[in-house]
Amino acid sequence: MGRVFQRLALPVLHASPVERVATGSRVGRSVARRFVAGETLEEALAAARRLQQAGMSVSLNHLGEEVTDPKAAAQALEDYRVCLTAIASEGIDANLSVKLTQLGMGFDPEAAEAALAELAAAAGAANTTITIDMEDSRWTEQTVAMYEKVQRSAGNLGLALQAYLYRTVDDLRRLLPSGGHIRLCKGAYAEPPTLAWQSAGEVDDSFASLLPPLMACEEVYPAIATHDERLISLTRNLAVSRTAAFEYQMMYGVREPLQGRLVADGFRVRVYVPYGSHWYPYLTRRLAERPANLMFFVRALIGR
Ligand code: FDA
Repeated sequence: MGRVFQRLALPVLHASPVERVATGSRVGRSVARRFVAGETLEEALAAARRLQQAGMSVSLNHLGEEVTDPKAAAQALEDYRVCLTAIASEGIDANLSVKLTQLGMGFDPEAAEAALAELAAAAGAANTTITIDMEDSRWTEQTVAMYEKVQRSAGNLGLALQAYLYRTVDDLRRLLPSGGHIRLCKGAYAEPPTLAWQSAGEVDDSFASLLPPLMACEEVYPAIATHDERLISLTRNLAVSRTAAFEYQMMYGVREPLQGRLVADGFRVRVYVPYGSHWYPYLTRRLAERPANLMFFVRALIGR
């Protein structure tokens, strides 16, 4: 039911009149604040400090995707440079999460690759890493290939893989020799049955079947990105025979008590902290993950 809902909800939320109402209203912004740390880097750093005090690290994501002009791509690169400088100077336990279409992969792949290599070097100097978010399936192959290429020289990159895609079992096999970190998540976009498992049960089974090879590979740092307690406890069982480190990852504003419980149990937890003014596409994915979220949002908009 969950995935069907997601496939129905996302196109409606992406319709421009809905986006206009949501982004133009105070209600839209206040619902977004549940999932987004704020519009500025300062707000994101404040959230990062709070989470760090609670024993967690963060992955900072400056919101933006599907960028279509060089100026916006250059601005995204500059924003991430500033973010890395702040991480280093303030000693925050953070890495970056970046989307390749935000760096311009959609219209100038060479420039996006150069930007990624530059960010990887800057992250290395700040003693941290970069995770490449995985976007919808139009971008999967290009993203995997660019990750593979830049990771070969950079060494401090990681990539998100989506359990709902049939191809992920092969991508995981292909990428394990690259080292770095692999963030395993279920997948947040509406994908067709030709490419992706459709039911929640099938996606969960796929995730569960990808966990053993990922957790068994000691050369890769697994980042298990889910709020699903069954998959978290499966990971816990697999971790018993693992000697190298791994971490759980969760999203800002989602299942905070569970985040705290894992920290209390001695596990590493990293929280994905998005910030910035381009929050609407991110919000649509969070709303589509849970009918209750969407109902809350619709009621708030109607009642505004
Ligand atoms: P599931 O959706 O089954 O949720 C399990 C439980 O978690 C729910 O019952 C509910 O309690 C809670 N929950 C989950 N989502 C919620 C929400 N939006 N609001 C309130 N409660 C919620 N996807 C992608 O395609 N590319 C990517 O790069 C990433 N990156 C990423 C990083 C991190 C750190 C996380 C945690 C997730 C992603 N995702 C992602 C999103 C991921 O693919 C997936 O859509 C969400 O994590 C929801 O799936 P769960 O695994 O949490 O399971």
